[in-house]
Amino acid sequence: DKGNRRHFMEKEIHEQPEVISHTLANYVDFTSGISKPLDLPFDFAKIDRLALSACGTAYLSGLIGKYWFERVARLPVDIDIASEFRYREMPISKNSAALFISQSGETADTLASLRYCRKAGVPIGAIVNVRESTIARESDVVLPTLAGPEIGVASTKAFTCQLSVLASLAVRAGVARGTISTETEKVLIRALSEAPRYANQVLKLDEQIEKVARELSHYRHVLYLGRDTNFPLAMEGALKLKEISYIHAEGYAAGELKHGPIALIDENMPVIVIAPHDRIFEKTVSNMQEVAARGGKIILITDRKGAEQASVNTMETIVLPDVPEIITPIVYALPIQMLAYFTAVFMGTDVDQPRNLAKSVTVE
Ligand code: M6R
Repeated sequence: DKGNRRHFMEKEIHEQPEVISHTLANYVDFTSGISKPLDLPFDFAKIDRLALSACGTAYLSGLIGKYWFERVARLPVDIDIASEFRYREMPISKNSAALFISQSGETADTLASLRYCRKAGVPIGAIVNVRESTIARESDVVLPTLAGPEIGVASTKAFTCQLSVLASLAVRAGVARGTISTETEKVLIRALSEAPRYANQVLKLDEQIEKVARELSHYRHVLYLGRDTNFPLAMEGALKLKEISYIHAEGYAAGELKHGPIALIDENMPVIVIAPHDRIFEKTVSNMQEVAARGGKIILITDRKGAEQASVNTMETIVLPDVPEIITPIVYALPIQMLAYFTAVFMGTDVDQPRNLAKSVTVE
């Protein structure tokens, strides 16, 4: 049931404040600001590596998780897309644990990667949305995303719920490994608890985002740029856009611009830059200047401070609320989903059932 929405995707985008809150509450106690007890088959304090694998959007959530685990918990993460992971004969030390991320819990390559780790004898956790799924059944612990059924082929709410689980696991790992104090844990959990409220604020920017999407629908190619956790988000933005609007889009680390993609820049390829005002903001500003100097049109997604200090002409600037750093990927996921959604609506494509795609890829 789409409720009063035109598409499932639109409905699922709007459900995010609620399902993010629901998912987080499964892992953290908002009142006390500490992690809830969790029966893990491994001890974050005792492992020295974490292997992560998934496909598509779930993989990109894992890539953001890598930044969190390494930064907050100083835990090295090996991550690969499952179709590579399963064949590349990666050495897995006994002192590691493995996490697999899947909305459906049925993705063939992700399952094969899980079985590879099972053979290697490491403890396995599954971040899944469908509790009764093969990946859930074959893992040692199920770490559910409580997004509810996701019908649209383009994953939206499952992604932000995966991020919510990963962020709360990284905080838990940080405490276990002694890399953050219980005070910092409280600060981070308070920050996480604010994600739903900020997500709600972003949903209210729909008129502006729809206007940007109308513009975007006139182009054939789009480049997405970001640094740090905004790099995987740039790839997610490009994936969303290409899968439902069929506009060719690529997501790049902003620092890679000079190493190739800058050759593509002209007035026919808008560049969407995801850049909250963080410690590397100035680096991204330089990249935007390089784009502007070549006649490229910039759509900047930033916060208030970023908008003030960007010192570059943009085609459009989408200003999001100032949010604590740990929740930026969750909050910034929404405008890129909304951009893809509205663009597809303008293009008149089948938003919920894009051509050639299946919701769950159960064969190789
Ligand atoms: O069910 P899964 O999370 O394992 O699916 C993984 C990918 O097939 C999925 O995320 C796909 O990339 C989506 N269509 C992206 O929107």
